[in-house]
Amino acid sequence: MRFPAPLAAAVLALCPLAAIAQTASAPKVPQKPVQRPAPPQVVVAQTPPMGWNSWNFFAGKVTDQDIRNAADQLVSTGMKDAGYIYVNIDDTWEGDRDASGVLHANSKFPDMKALADYVHSKGLKLGIYSSPGPQTCARFAASLDHEVQDAQLYASWGVDYLKYDLCSFREAVMTAQAPNDKAAQMRLMVAAYDKMNKALKATGRPIVYSLCQYGWDAVWEWGPSVGANLWRTTGDIQANWQSIYSILNEQAGLAKYAGPGHWNDPDMLEVGNGQSTGSNNQIRYLTLAENRTHFSMWAMLAAPLLAGNDLPNMKPEILAILTNRDVIAIDQDRLGHEATRAYSDGELDVWTRHLSGGAMAIAVINAGSDRYSTHPFHLSLAKLGLHGPLQGKDLWTGKDITLTNNMPIELASHDILLVRIPSPK
Ligand code: GLA
Repeated sequence: MRFPAPLAAAVLALCPLAAIAQTASAPKVPQKPVQRPAPPQVVVAQTPPMGWNSWNFFAGKVTDQDIRNAADQLVSTGMKDAGYIYVNIDDTWEGDRDASGVLHANSKFPDMKALADYVHSKGLKLGIYSSPGPQTCARFAASLDHEVQDAQLYASWGVDYLKYDLCSFREAVMTAQAPNDKAAQMRLMVAAYDKMNKALKATGRPIVYSLCQYGWDAVWEWGPSVGANLWRTTGDIQANWQSIYSILNEQAGLAKYAGPGHWNDPDMLEVGNGQSTGSNNQIRYLTLAENRTHFSMWAMLAAPLLAGNDLPNMKPEILAILTNRDVIAIDQDRLGHEATRAYSDGELDVWTRHLSGGAMAIAVINAGSDRYSTHPFHLSLAKLGLHGPLQGKDLWTGKDITLTNNMPIELASHDILLVRIPSPK
């Protein structure tokens, strides 16, 4: 029996079984694909990562409590508000692997998950450290042949950042497997970094990936291809002017390799730190001028700003340097254009950085130790392709400044003039 169409609909509505039968036998209507929102893509390190790392001050002595203290201090000092987000545990946290190969932290870090939860509860992120070799630089257990397992472990703890340090991979794998073939050694190294990259990506957790292999084989050229968000360009920094200044000069020529998501890393900050002079355990601290120049130039270089000082005992003048918002804004400029060295003239170096909105930063450094006001520097705007007068802001005095061609500039030893020019011409 056939019902007229409206009646057929009414019968179906009253008779669920008929409706089911109708559905079952009806020709398939092509279904529109369900529009599910794409999973949010968390892109990390769009500006250089900022935070704190344990190595430069605590080295092998770092404990769970030091990490908690650092997290507390980042919040209470206002450093977190200024952008310092990552709290990174460097080497010496590692313990032994169990029978299933799962790595455990050593007794200095009784509960890594609880530590990660604590750091996260402060609105901060946690970083950790390993090596592609069998051992880390400090000879603790590292990730060789356990890459996937370790990446999963970090993700299960809630780790947000991994520094992956070449160390024993050199002897244990590179020289062992390709003793007389440097190119083959480098290929092994690149493959090892890519292996951990893939293991991290497979966790699905956004984890900043920091390569530490001291710039070997021009890492800036292949770092992005193995998912690196940053790569060390040099050997280890030390808390003295010679180290900082020579690392700075090694960065000249690397600007084009930096940009959002992938940064040159001239190593962590030594601002506020010093070094033993060898006599009577005396520490020679960086001078305020050296701290200012170091911090300013790392910002000019679009470097990661990872403080490395003793946060609970930080002097106010060191905090003031680390939280200079104008200088941080240069580092974090969204264009990510790293500074280039415009010219050097004797002990004077001039670097410039292009900023968003057409602005420019100019840094003038006195690298010498014995030049006094009787003999000032002269800043050549012409050599920068600029014409004075230029209105700007001196980012260390906070005052307005006018730059003119060949103007005399007095700078104390190892000090810097850092100026932001909104409209250079
Ligand atoms: C290497 C790295 C340092 C630090 C130590 C830890 O020397 O370059 O930054 O991580 O290892 O052992």
